[in-house]
Amino acid sequence: MFEQLKKKWKVNSFQLILIICTFAIGGSATGYVAKKVMNVLTIGQDWLWAIIYILLVTLIWPVAVIIISIPFGQFSFFLKYIRKIGSKMGMGGGRSREGEVGSQESGVRSREPLTRIAIFASGAGSNAAKIINHFQHHPSVKIVLVVSNNPNTGVLEIAKKSQIQTLLIEKEVFFSQKSCINDLKSANIDFIVLAGFLWKIPDTLIKEYPRKIVNIHPALLPKYGGKGMYGHYVHEAVLAHKEKESGISIHYVDEVYDHGQIIFQAQCPVMENDTPQTLAQRIHALEHEHYPKVIEGLLAKKP
Ligand code: GRF
Repeated sequence: MFEQLKKKWKVNSFQLILIICTFAIGGSATGYVAKKVMNVLTIGQDWLWAIIYILLVTLIWPVAVIIISIPFGQFSFFLKYIRKIGSKMGMGGGRSREGEVGSQESGVRSREPLTRIAIFASGAGSNAAKIINHFQHHPSVKIVLVVSNNPNTGVLEIAKKSQIQTLLIEKEVFFSQKSCINDLKSANIDFIVLAGFLWKIPDTLIKEYPRKIVNIHPALLPKYGGKGMYGHYVHEAVLAHKEKESGISIHYVDEVYDHGQIIFQAQCPVMENDTPQTLAQRIHALEHEHYPKVIEGLLAKKP
């Protein structure tokens, strides 16, 4: 049950304890204050007493938990939580709810769920740039974080220009038990897109985001995949085997390199006079054409 709550609220164990404490103390304080007010009102314990008591509790509870959440450091969580309840009850003005598109840009309120994406990239970032552009004004998908292991990668610049938060990860931390899960959780990431990310995704991260991490590979998997098969090595191998055709594979990420279920593939010819560079250009064009659309289609189908 606690695990489910952590997932639902996108918090870690420590935060969950603080939230539960706030609920408990807020609930007790509400009951106490409501009883005191009822004593002052001196109404007989009949149906009118019950109605007034319920109304009082409804009014006092949000105030109580908000006040108590401050010393527990959970103010922003409870503010969102209460807004969420308010909007479910048809209140709450025109502000957007966390995890939903209230379309702050347009001012139009919508209840379409918002999927928050983190892009992981190590290289030039041309795919990341295409994805960022594609979803720039999307009603239900937002690129909120770009993660990289390489401080000199172009993708960090691209992210900054688009005012997207960036995260530079260190090897030791990334491959530790917690990986970068806390950072992803605090950015409320729902889905991860690998776009030329060279480190293997640790099992802990895959377990945290089951079937919610996708990768693009510059060949027709299962051929020319696996450890060490990236960038020009892939194209060199394709040419060395005199393949007539290559292409791209978009797949879910599992514990094995380039092994998860294939979601989409597209083919292109391999020319006789191709070099790894010319083949890479053709493959890149395919990637740019399809990757953003495939992600969009996938997210549209997700519950
Ligand atoms: C792409 O070819 C992709 O298939 C592979 O890494 C490359 C990244 O290119 N996984 P870019 O950094 O997006 O330009």
